Amino acid sequence: MVRQSTLIFPHGTNSENVKEIFLHYLKKKTIFKDKHVLTDAFFPDEILHRDKELMQLSSTLAPALKGYKPNNVFIYGGVGTGKTVCTKLVLKQLQEVVDNNRLPVKTIYINCKLKKVADTEYRLLAQLLSEFGVSVPDTGLPTDVLYRKFFNVVEESGKITIIALDEIDALVEKIGDDFLYNFTRINTELSSGKISLIGITNKLNFYNELDARVKSSLSEEEIFFHPYNALQLKDILWQRAEKAFNPGVVEDVVINKCAALAAQEHGDARRALDLLRTAGEIAERYNSEKILEEHVDMAHQKLEMDRTLEAIRMLPKQAQFVLAAILKLSKRTNPLHTVEVFREYKNICNKNGIKPLTIRRINDLLNELTALGIIDSHVVSKGRYGRQREITLSIEGDVLDAAEKLLFTFIS
Ligand SMILES: Nc1ncnc2c1ncn2[C@@H]1O[C@H](COP(=O)(O)OP(=O)(O)OP(=O)(O)O)[C@@H](O)[C@H]1O
Ligand SMILES: [Mg+2]
Repeated sequence: MVRQSTLIFPHGTNSENVKEIFLHYLKKKTIFKDKHVLTDAFFPDEILHRDKELMQLSSTLAPALKGYKPNNVFIYGGVGTGKTVCTKLVLKQLQEVVDNNRLPVKTIYINCKLKKVADTEYRLLAQLLSEFGVSVPDTGLPTDVLYRKFFNVVEESGKITIIALDEIDALVEKIGDDFLYNFTRINTELSSGKISLIGITNKLNFYNELDARVKSSLSEEEIFFHPYNALQLKDILWQRAEKAFNPGVVEDVVINKCAALAAQEHGDARRALDLLRTAGEIAERYNSEKILEEHVDMAHQKLEMDRTLEAIRMLPKQAQFVLAAILKLSKRTNPLHTVEVFREYKNICNKNGIKPLTIRRINDLLNELTALGIIDSHVVSKGRYGRQREITLSIEGDVLDAAEKLLFTFIS
């Protein structure tokens, strides 16, 4: 048997060889010039294909410069369609004009998904107060005291305060929509200061679920962000690729492929950038001097795997049990029917000491798994035997293996 060390270190001492690895790496032509450019943390100099939306948002907010309260804005659109990047750009430019002209306007951007910032009404108000330089204890005060403080601070500042609540659905899910009503109502009591809200979401049904009075006040203006098509994604990718990679590393075929794949997946620019970054990392690992189409395929598979596993990890426990039942049964039978899945699910619940849900609830969970693309299920007519739901797994190969490994680490 060949000793591992003989393969890796042909001569010299360990220290010399380890050093050699580092020196070799240092000399090696690298794929990336600046990988950071392909992440959300990078702010592009130029936002492409969003002139209409940028114009709409900036002209809605512009009246603030002349002392008028801008209409509230509701911004919605699918994942990775540029909502955050466009809102941040508009607020930044507005704030610059405000600062240069010493105008009484204040812009605040809050990402409601960030836990410590806005996962309770208390934290949200504390965060807003801190934007005005007022600090409050982490807990302990009644929320109406915080509302009062916030009211006073806006009033004393005499400023038109524009508050962008990004991923607003996450906040409403946690604390309900009363706070939105409270915010809009504050305006009727304020005399010198005013508050305008920008609510941003990618949950397209979020708006319908809001209380009617909140709905009408939040969406005095609405801006919809359409998915990007493959050509638009191509432009976005090239703009970043030139900064992210060394010359000659990326070619048109690679960009086209990333753009086409991301266009199929809801026109998501983040997905397109993730694909290109991951393909670059794979090319680097294979010691390739440039990114090849096959690296994009591998990146696609990797991202799919990550996404599926993350979705499974985030499922409620009962849905994980239903999926575990489907995984077990589909080794023998295909397609499956609800009754069989239900029976196996109950076995798993018993083994794991969990009280099973009713078959009706299982049907809801099957719909959830279908919506996530983990299973495929549809109702078929069986003539005089009535209608039955047929269930098949939509994941296969490595993803299936990894999903099994993940689920059966905590389900017996
Ligand atoms: N038109 C564009 N031009 C350049 N880069 C863009 C454009 N649109 C989006 N991006 C980039 O794509 C990524 C996703 O954009 P952004 O975060 O704005 O999407 P989003 O609509 O807010 O998505 P989500 O709903 O998931 O929050 C970011 O890295 C952003 O810089
Ligand atoms: Mg966003």
